[in-house]
Amino acid sequence: MAPHHQQRALLLFPLVFLLLLLAPPLAGAWGKEGHIMVCKIAEKYLSEKAAAAVQALLPESAGGELCTVCPWADQVRWHYHWASPLHYANTPQVCNFKYSRDCHNSRGQQGMCVVGAINNYTDQLYSYGQKTSYNLTESLMFLAHFVGDVHQPLHVGFQDDEGGNTITVHWYRRKANLHHVWDVSIIDTAIKDFYNKSMDTMVEALKMNLTDGWSDDIVHWENCKNKHATCANDYAIESIHYSCNYAYKDVEQDITLGDDYFFSRYPIVEKRLAQAGIRLALVLNRIFGGGEADDIPLQVQ
Ligand SMILES: *[C@@H]1O[C@H](CO)[C@@H](O)[C@H](O)[C@H]1NC(C)=O
Ligand SMILES: *[C@@H]1O[C@H](CO)[C@@H](O)[C@H](O)[C@H]1NC(C)=O
Ligand SMILES: *[C@@H]1O[C@H](CO)[C@@H](O)[C@H](O)[C@H]1NC(C)=O
Ligand SMILES: *[C@@H]1O[C@H](CO)[C@@H](O)[C@H](O)[C@H]1NC(C)=O
Repeated sequence: MAPHHQQRALLLFPLVFLLLLLAPPLAGAWGKEGHIMVCKIAEKYLSEKAAAAVQALLPESAGGELCTVCPWADQVRWHYHWASPLHYANTPQVCNFKYSRDCHNSRGQQGMCVVGAINNYTDQLYSYGQKTSYNLTESLMFLAHFVGDVHQPLHVGFQDDEGGNTITVHWYRRKANLHHVWDVSIIDTAIKDFYNKSMDTMVEALKMNLTDGWSDDIVHWENCKNKHATCANDYAIESIHYSCNYAYKDVEQDITLGDDYFFSRYPIVEKRLAQAGIRLALVLNRIFGGGEADDIPLQVQ
């Protein structure tokens, strides 16, 4: 390389770095905390076999805890650009989800959406214990993340507003967009107002409710019409309904969202986090259950 090229590269480096720092945070997924909470709940419901397989697949940096790798898929979004459409699905401004119509990327490639991705990474993980060309560590990290995402209502939202990303709102006094409110703000406000500023306290409350307030509901959460698929299609259908009935409801550009919105919506967010956790455990228990799992009803242990 000619010296002046080197100099230019040196000058460019801080500039690129600065631009990266200034770039707006990626509109993605439950925030870090949402994903961590989903996986902390899931970990509690893993069968022995599933827990052992998860341990074997986790990278060393995870310290043996699934929840530490659950935000990973957002962290590699720059690097794995092709995976960006796998975090969500959009409908043509209708309150129902149809796989054949809605599950594709911007180039029209079928299956490139959150539902297709959950099915894809589930299939890959079924090859655990056999010779495979897939990196099953990545398959696990993707699956754990996308099962979380498909439960965030606005990850199955409208195409026109990019799942609420282009709807500017104020969350109390702070400027935000509607998508971010559901990824992050509602959770942050709940942690601050109800859980003594501690995410772990919130996780404990959700776990407690699973053995109490929600215990009768779990059997319904476990069911899906197509027992041989991952049920991701059903979870997406639920999400678009929550989007229409709660997330988008009574919201318009530049509206200020405060107590009324928060108090009527945070129970939905809490329920979706808990459902995602239970269902992630369910999928992993089934995958790693050892063959017989396909015929037994989905049931957490
Ligand atoms: C399935 O996983 C492979 C490996 O990560 C990836 O290349 C492909 O795009 C994925 N497809 C879907 C629909 O997730
Ligand atoms: C599998 O993926 C992980 C995470 O991206 C990476 O650290 C690891 O080196 C990969 N393993 C192989 C064998 O490529
Ligand atoms: C809230 O958290 C603080 C530490 O951050 C702790 O000292 C306090 O006891 C907690 N309060 C309750 C009610 O748990
Ligand atoms: C617990 O479950 C009940 C009954 O569904 C629900 O109303 C409540 O919001 C839940 N509490 C928490 C902390 O999620």
